[in-house]
Amino acid sequence: MKREIGKSGIEVGAIGLGCMGLSEFYGPATDRDAAIKLLHEAIELGVDHFDTAEMYGMGANEDLLGAAFAGRRDRVVIATKFGPLRDPATGRPIGIDGSPANCRRACEESLRRLKTDVIDLYYLHRVSPQTPIEETVEAMAGLVREGKVKAIGLSEAASATIRRAAEVHPISAVQSEYSIFSRDIENTVLAACRDVGASLVAYSPLGRGLLTGKFSADKRPGENDWRGITMPRFAGDAYAANLALVAEIEALAAKKHATASQVALAWVLGRGDNILTIPGTTKLANLKGNLAAYDVGLSAGETASLNKLADRVQGERYDARGMAVING
Ligand code: ATR
Repeated sequence: MKREIGKSGIEVGAIGLGCMGLSEFYGPATDRDAAIKLLHEAIELGVDHFDTAEMYGMGANEDLLGAAFAGRRDRVVIATKFGPLRDPATGRPIGIDGSPANCRRACEESLRRLKTDVIDLYYLHRVSPQTPIEETVEAMAGLVREGKVKAIGLSEAASATIRRAAEVHPISAVQSEYSIFSRDIENTVLAACRDVGASLVAYSPLGRGLLTGKFSADKRPGENDWRGITMPRFAGDAYAANLALVAEIEALAAKKHATASQVALAWVLGRGDNILTIPGTTKLANLKGNLAAYDVGLSAGETASLNKLADRVQGERYDARGMAVING
């Protein structure tokens, strides 16, 4: 199933690959050779949309993609992002910089790490409170004019921001968290995407793994896994309550001879024909299972019962620090 990224003329499979987890946040980084092998296998399976960011592994994730895609550049659409800054010594987040100077610096560095002369889709990763969106987008448009970027996008942007940005330059994609458990963008961001002709790129469509059924009361995120450390939906009483909702999805999936992950992805793709998604995985078997979601259809009744779950989810998407940098 191919879908165009906005009106950019770039077509990709509706299910791409979120690459963040290969480098950090969900436990230790995947061994480099194994990660490169997975990226090559993804290409062979027909995956052609790979999502990374400057901040993932502080450049390591882009470096990885650069190494993996050498000799295969024409088979992949690379999306990367700039804005969040981190302390190089500790990795601690130290702010969001949407200034034209940072946009240019970050783009040059991403091009170098990705070993390419053009980024297919370049996003502002988080909207900066200090820089008017028009100034950031004008800088990104400059990169398009210079041929360094093909299409531009915004991540976690509010609908008003999307509309202002689109006055300056076509916005091809808006990347937001969107899943059975996280539907808050539906009436705002999704509507703005439709109005400005952007695709919605749904990240964490599997609820950061929660919706896959791989977690349980006994199987919690590991020691160095950011989900167990900071994510409210994985903490305290919310965790048990959310696992009970996952059990409902698993029961629905079992009746269809599908997995909960496939149902979660089919649900996202069924919400609109301008929606793409980028589930993350570090494992070939999971990647194959996720791609099989293309063949899973949901009836109106199934969709309606899944639609009811989001209201019962407990816990915010991020901790207070993460929520503070969401453009609301
Ligand atoms: P993100 O966008 O933040 O990467 P996500 O796509 O909602 O989040 O979920 C990613 C998580 O789901 C990862 O922990 C991934 O673990 P693996 O690397 O072990 O696969 C997990 N995941 C993805 N697909 C899965 C599947 N089919 N079955 C089980 N877990 C899966």
